[in-house]
Amino acid sequence: MNINAKTKLCCIIGDPVEHSLSPIMHNAGYQALGLNFAFVAFHVKDVKKAIEGLRALNVRGIVVTVPHKIEVLKYVDNTDETAKKIGAANTIVNDNGMLTASNTDWTGSLEALRKVTSIAGKTVVVLGAGGAARAVVYGLKKEGAIVNVCNRTIQNAEELVEEFDLNGAYTLDNKEIIIKADIIINTTSVGMEPKQDETPIPVEYLQSHHIVYDIVYVPKETELLKAAKNLGAKVVYGDKMLFYGAIPQFELFTQNKAPIKEMEKALDLEIERKKNNA
Ligand code: ATR
Repeated sequence: MNINAKTKLCCIIGDPVEHSLSPIMHNAGYQALGLNFAFVAFHVKDVKKAIEGLRALNVRGIVVTVPHKIEVLKYVDNTDETAKKIGAANTIVNDNGMLTASNTDWTGSLEALRKVTSIAGKTVVVLGAGGAARAVVYGLKKEGAIVNVCNRTIQNAEELVEEFDLNGAYTLDNKEIIIKADIIINTTSVGMEPKQDETPIPVEYLQSHHIVYDIVYVPKETELLKAAKNLGAKVVYGDKMLFYGAIPQFELFTQNKAPIKEMEKALDLEIERKKNNA
Protein backbone atom coordinates (compact mmCIF):
# COMPACT_ATOMS: atom_id res chain seq x y z
CA MET A 1 0.00 0.00 0.00
CA ASN A 2 1.43 3.36 -1.03
CA ILE A 3 0.29 5.91 1.54
CA ASN A 4 0.93 9.53 0.59
CA ALA A 5 -0.44 13.02 1.13
CA LYS A 6 -3.51 12.27 -0.97
CA THR A 7 -4.53 9.08 0.81
CA LYS A 8 -8.14 9.10 1.99
CA LEU A 9 -8.62 7.60 5.41
CA CYS A 10 -11.50 5.43 6.63
CA CYS A 11 -11.75 3.76 10.01
CA ILE A 12 -13.73 1.71 12.46
CA ILE A 13 -14.50 2.91 15.98
CA GLY A 14 -15.44 0.49 18.75
CA ASP A 15 -14.66 -0.66 22.28
CA PRO A 16 -13.05 -3.19 22.06
CA VAL A 17 -11.99 -3.05 18.43
CA GLU A 18 -8.80 -5.12 18.22
CA HIS A 19 -10.74 -8.17 17.02
CA SER A 20 -12.33 -6.25 14.12
CA LEU A 21 -12.18 -7.74 10.65
CA SER A 22 -13.21 -4.50 8.91
CA PRO A 23 -9.64 -3.25 8.22
CA ILE A 24 -8.71 -6.52 6.54
CA MET A 25 -11.76 -6.46 4.25
CA HIS A 26 -11.68 -2.77 3.32
CA ASN A 27 -7.91 -2.62 2.77
CA ALA A 28 -8.05 -5.74 0.58
CA GLY A 29 -10.69 -3.95 -1.50
CA TYR A 30 -8.59 -0.79 -1.85
CA GLN A 31 -5.62 -2.84 -2.89
CA ALA A 32 -7.56 -4.85 -5.45
CA LEU A 33 -8.85 -1.68 -7.12
CA GLY A 34 -5.64 0.33 -6.66
CA LEU A 35 -7.48 3.01 -4.68
CA ASN A 36 -5.53 5.54 -2.65
CA PHE A 37 -7.43 4.75 0.54
CA ALA A 38 -6.39 3.30 3.89
CA PHE A 39 -8.51 1.80 6.67
CA VAL A 40 -7.52 1.67 10.35
CA ALA A 41 -9.15 0.75 13.67
CA PHE A 42 -9.53 3.19 16.56
CA HIS A 43 -10.26 2.01 20.08
CA VAL A 44 -12.70 4.71 21.16
CA LYS A 45 -14.31 5.35 24.53
CA ASP A 46 -15.37 8.98 24.13
CA VAL A 47 -17.64 8.87 21.07
CA LYS A 48 -18.43 12.59 20.99
CA LYS A 49 -14.78 13.61 20.91
CA ALA A 50 -13.93 10.88 18.42
CA ILE A 51 -16.60 12.02 15.96
CA GLU A 52 -15.52 15.65 16.35
CA GLY A 53 -11.93 14.64 15.68
CA LEU A 54 -12.76 12.47 12.68
CA ARG A 55 -14.82 15.31 11.24
CA ALA A 56 -12.00 17.81 11.82
CA LEU A 57 -9.50 15.46 10.16
CA ASN A 58 -11.91 14.94 7.26
CA VAL A 59 -11.84 11.15 7.60
CA ARG A 60 -13.97 9.91 4.70
CA GLY A 61 -15.82 6.95 6.17
CA ILE A 62 -16.45 5.59 9.64
CA VAL A 63 -17.61 2.08 10.48
CA VAL A 64 -19.19 1.99 13.92
CA THR A 65 -19.27 -1.09 16.08
CA VAL A 66 -20.36 -2.15 19.57
CA PRO A 67 -21.11 -0.36 21.86
CA HIS A 68 -21.30 2.92 19.91
CA LYS A 69 -23.94 2.20 17.28
CA ILE A 70 -26.70 4.07 19.12
CA GLU A 71 -24.72 6.92 20.61
CA VAL A 72 -23.19 8.05 17.29
CA LEU A 73 -26.63 9.12 16.10
CA LYS A 74 -26.38 12.10 18.47
CA TYR A 75 -23.28 13.51 16.80
CA VAL A 76 -23.97 13.19 13.06
CA ASP A 77 -25.70 15.74 10.83
CA ASN A 78 -28.11 13.36 9.09
CA THR A 79 -29.45 9.90 9.80
CA ASP A 80 -31.13 7.99 7.00
CA GLU A 81 -34.65 6.63 7.51
CA THR A 82 -33.56 3.02 7.98
CA ALA A 83 -30.99 3.80 10.65
CA LYS A 84 -33.62 5.95 12.37
CA LYS A 85 -36.11 3.09 12.41
CA ILE A 86 -33.52 0.58 13.63
CA GLY A 87 -32.28 3.16 16.13
CA ALA A 88 -28.63 2.43 15.39
CA ALA A 89 -26.01 3.10 12.73
CA ASN A 90 -22.91 1.14 11.75
CA THR A 91 -21.83 3.45 8.93
CA ILE A 92 -21.03 7.17 8.67
CA VAL A 93 -20.09 8.88 5.42
CA ASN A 94 -18.31 12.21 5.57
CA ASP A 95 -19.07 14.50 2.63
CA ASN A 96 -16.82 17.50 3.23
CA GLY A 97 -17.71 17.80 6.88
CA MET A 98 -21.33 16.69 6.56
CA LEU A 99 -21.78 13.38 8.39
CA THR A 100 -24.56 10.99 7.33
CA ALA A 101 -25.30 7.85 9.33
CA SER A 102 -26.80 4.70 7.86
CA ASN A 103 -27.15 1.02 8.73
CA THR A 104 -25.86 -1.91 6.67
CA ASP A 105 -26.29 -4.55 9.38
CA TRP A 106 -29.80 -5.34 8.17
CA THR A 107 -28.83 -5.78 4.53
CA GLY A 108 -25.79 -7.78 5.61
CA SER A 109 -27.87 -10.19 7.63
CA LEU A 110 -30.47 -10.62 4.88
CA GLU A 111 -27.93 -11.12 2.13
CA ALA A 112 -26.16 -13.85 4.10
CA LEU A 113 -29.48 -15.65 4.56
CA ARG A 114 -30.56 -15.17 0.94
CA LYS A 115 -27.58 -17.26 -0.16
CA VAL A 116 -29.25 -20.35 1.30
CA THR A 117 -32.99 -19.65 1.32
CA SER A 118 -35.84 -17.47 0.18
CA ILE A 119 -37.25 -15.37 3.01
CA ALA A 120 -40.75 -14.17 2.06
CA GLY A 121 -43.43 -16.22 3.83
CA LYS A 122 -40.91 -18.17 5.93
CA THR A 123 -41.43 -18.50 9.67
CA VAL A 124 -38.42 -17.15 11.52
CA VAL A 125 -37.55 -17.34 15.20
CA VAL A 126 -35.18 -14.57 16.24
CA LEU A 127 -33.37 -15.33 19.48
CA GLY A 128 -32.68 -12.10 21.38
CA ALA A 129 -34.24 -8.65 21.40
CA GLY A 130 -31.25 -6.30 21.68
CA GLY A 131 -29.55 -3.96 19.23
CA ALA A 132 -28.50 -6.67 16.78
CA ALA A 133 -32.02 -8.14 16.78
CA ARG A 134 -33.45 -4.77 15.74
CA ALA A 135 -31.48 -4.71 12.48
CA VAL A 136 -32.28 -8.37 11.79
CA VAL A 137 -36.05 -8.11 12.37
CA TYR A 138 -36.23 -4.90 10.35
CA GLY A 139 -34.81 -6.73 7.34
CA LEU A 140 -36.91 -9.87 7.82
CA LYS A 141 -40.11 -7.88 8.13
CA LYS A 142 -39.29 -5.84 5.04
CA GLU A 143 -38.70 -9.10 3.16
CA GLY A 144 -42.08 -10.55 4.18
CA ALA A 145 -41.07 -13.16 6.75
CA ILE A 146 -43.29 -14.19 9.67
CA VAL A 147 -41.15 -13.21 12.65
CA ASN A 148 -41.37 -14.55 16.21
CA VAL A 149 -38.98 -13.24 18.85
CA CYS A 150 -37.76 -15.47 21.69
CA ASN A 151 -35.86 -13.70 24.44
CA ARG A 152 -34.65 -14.30 28.00
CA THR A 153 -36.61 -11.25 29.16
CA ILE A 154 -40.09 -11.56 27.67
CA GLN A 155 -40.82 -7.86 28.11
CA ASN A 156 -37.98 -6.91 25.75
CA ALA A 157 -39.32 -9.38 23.18
CA GLU A 158 -42.82 -7.94 23.51
CA GLU A 159 -41.55 -4.40 23.00
CA LEU A 160 -39.66 -5.41 19.86
CA VAL A 161 -42.69 -7.25 18.46
CA GLU A 162 -44.89 -4.26 19.12
CA GLU A 163 -42.50 -1.73 17.62
CA PHE A 164 -41.78 -3.65 14.40
CA ASP A 165 -45.25 -5.18 14.10
CA LEU A 166 -43.96 -8.77 14.29
CA ASN A 167 -45.83 -12.02 14.87
CA GLY A 168 -45.26 -13.04 18.49
CA ALA A 169 -43.06 -12.76 21.61
CA TYR A 170 -41.91 -15.79 23.62
CA THR A 171 -39.22 -16.92 26.01
CA LEU A 172 -36.22 -19.01 24.98
CA ASP A 173 -37.74 -22.22 26.37
CA ASN A 174 -40.72 -22.22 23.99
CA LYS A 175 -39.91 -25.52 22.31
CA GLU A 176 -43.08 -25.66 20.24
CA ILE A 177 -42.61 -22.31 18.55
CA ILE A 178 -38.91 -22.95 17.93
CA ILE A 179 -39.43 -26.43 16.45
CA LYS A 180 -42.06 -25.11 14.02
CA ALA A 181 -39.76 -22.41 12.60
CA ASP A 182 -38.15 -22.63 9.17
CA ILE A 183 -35.28 -20.38 10.18
CA ILE A 184 -33.66 -19.74 13.57
CA ILE A 185 -31.41 -16.70 14.00
CA ASN A 186 -29.32 -16.14 17.11
CA THR A 187 -28.72 -12.45 17.82
CA THR A 188 -27.74 -12.87 21.48
CA SER A 189 -24.15 -12.92 22.68
CA VAL A 190 -24.57 -16.50 23.94
CA GLY A 191 -22.06 -18.69 22.12
CA MET A 192 -19.55 -15.88 21.74
CA GLU A 193 -16.30 -15.87 23.69
CA PRO A 194 -16.27 -16.05 26.71
CA LYS A 195 -19.68 -17.81 26.56
CA GLN A 196 -18.50 -20.12 23.77
CA ASP A 197 -19.57 -23.31 25.59
CA GLU A 198 -23.20 -22.19 25.87
CA THR A 199 -26.14 -22.19 23.46
CA PRO A 200 -29.05 -19.71 23.57
CA ILE A 201 -31.60 -22.54 23.34
CA PRO A 202 -31.32 -26.25 24.25
CA VAL A 203 -29.78 -28.06 21.25
CA GLU A 204 -32.58 -30.67 21.56
CA TYR A 205 -34.90 -28.07 20.02
CA LEU A 206 -32.97 -28.10 16.74
CA GLN A 207 -34.31 -30.13 13.81
CA SER A 208 -32.84 -31.16 10.50
CA HIS A 209 -35.39 -29.02 8.62
CA HIS A 210 -34.14 -25.84 10.30
CA ILE A 211 -31.88 -23.25 8.74
CA VAL A 212 -29.78 -22.01 11.64
CA TYR A 213 -28.00 -18.68 11.44
CA ASP A 214 -25.76 -17.40 14.21
CA ILE A 215 -24.59 -13.81 14.01
CA VAL A 216 -21.83 -14.60 16.51
CA TYR A 217 -18.60 -14.98 14.54
CA VAL A 218 -16.02 -15.51 17.29
CA PRO A 219 -15.80 -18.51 17.27
CA LYS A 220 -16.97 -19.02 13.69
CA GLU A 221 -18.53 -22.38 14.50
CA THR A 222 -20.57 -21.81 17.66
CA GLU A 223 -21.97 -24.72 19.69
CA LEU A 224 -25.39 -23.90 18.23
CA LEU A 225 -24.13 -24.19 14.65
CA LYS A 226 -22.13 -27.32 15.47
CA ALA A 227 -25.24 -29.04 16.82
CA ALA A 228 -27.33 -27.91 13.84
CA LYS A 229 -24.71 -29.14 11.37
CA ASN A 230 -24.53 -32.52 13.12
CA LEU A 231 -28.28 -32.89 12.55
CA GLY A 232 -27.89 -32.14 8.87
CA ALA A 233 -29.52 -28.70 9.15
CA LYS A 234 -28.33 -25.87 6.92
CA VAL A 235 -26.19 -23.31 8.74
CA VAL A 236 -25.17 -19.72 8.05
CA TYR A 237 -22.05 -18.30 9.68
CA GLY A 238 -21.98 -14.89 11.39
CA ASP A 239 -18.99 -13.62 9.45
CA LYS A 240 -21.18 -13.52 6.34
CA MET A 241 -23.36 -10.80 7.90
CA LEU A 242 -20.23 -8.83 8.54
CA PHE A 243 -19.02 -9.40 5.03
CA TYR A 244 -22.24 -8.47 3.26
CA GLY A 245 -22.56 -5.44 5.54
CA ALA A 246 -19.07 -4.28 4.55
CA ILE A 247 -19.81 -4.28 0.82
CA PRO A 248 -22.22 -1.29 0.82
CA GLN A 249 -19.91 0.50 3.28
CA PHE A 250 -17.01 0.12 0.87
CA GLU A 251 -19.15 1.41 -1.98
CA LEU A 252 -20.45 4.39 0.01
CA PHE A 253 -16.94 5.39 1.11
CA THR A 254 -15.10 4.94 -2.21
CA GLN A 255 -17.94 5.35 -4.74
CA ASN A 256 -16.53 2.25 -6.46
CA LYS A 257 -18.10 -1.16 -6.93
CA ALA A 258 -16.66 -3.45 -4.27
CA PRO A 259 -14.31 -6.24 -5.43
CA ILE A 260 -16.34 -8.88 -3.65
CA LYS A 261 -14.14 -11.90 -4.33
CA GLU A 262 -10.94 -10.27 -3.13
CA MET A 263 -12.59 -8.90 0.01
CA GLU A 264 -14.14 -12.26 0.86
CA LYS A 265 -10.88 -14.06 0.31
CA ALA A 266 -9.07 -11.66 2.65
CA LEU A 267 -11.74 -12.19 5.30
CA ASP A 268 -11.62 -15.98 5.02
CA LEU A 269 -7.82 -15.99 5.21
CA GLU A 270 -7.85 -13.81 8.31
CA ILE A 271 -10.44 -15.97 10.05
CA GLU A 272 -8.39 -19.06 9.21
CA ARG A 273 -5.23 -17.35 10.50
CA LYS A 274 -6.95 -16.39 13.76
CA LYS A 275 -8.26 -19.91 14.22
CA ASN A 276 -4.79 -21.39 13.78
CA ASN A 277 -3.29 -18.91 16.24
CA ALA A 278 -6.00 -19.52 18.85
P1 ATR B 1 -26.59 -6.31 21.05
O1 ATR B 1 -26.66 -4.84 20.82
O2 ATR B 1 -25.25 -6.90 20.68
O3 ATR B 1 -27.71 -7.07 20.48
P2 ATR B 1 -27.79 -6.15 23.65
O4 ATR B 1 -28.59 -5.02 23.16
O5 ATR B 1 -27.15 -6.04 24.99
O6 ATR B 1 -26.60 -6.48 22.63
O7 ATR B 1 -28.70 -7.47 23.56
C1 ATR B 1 -28.27 -8.63 24.03
C2 ATR B 1 -29.35 -9.69 23.78
O8 ATR B 1 -28.81 -10.93 24.19
C3 ATR B 1 -30.62 -9.49 24.59
O9 ATR B 1 -31.72 -10.04 23.89
C4 ATR B 1 -30.33 -10.30 25.85
O10 ATR B 1 -31.49 -10.75 26.53
P3 ATR B 1 -32.25 -9.82 27.62
O11 ATR B 1 -33.17 -8.93 26.84
O12 ATR B 1 -32.96 -10.79 28.48
O13 ATR B 1 -31.16 -9.06 28.35
C5 ATR B 1 -29.61 -11.47 25.26
N1 ATR B 1 -28.72 -12.14 26.21
C6 ATR B 1 -27.56 -11.67 26.71
N2 ATR B 1 -27.00 -12.58 27.54
C7 ATR B 1 -27.85 -13.64 27.58
C8 ATR B 1 -27.84 -14.92 28.23
N3 ATR B 1 -26.84 -15.27 29.06
N4 ATR B 1 -28.86 -15.75 28.00
C9 ATR B 1 -29.87 -15.41 27.18
N5 ATR B 1 -29.94 -14.24 26.52
C10 ATR B 1 -28.95 -13.36 26.72
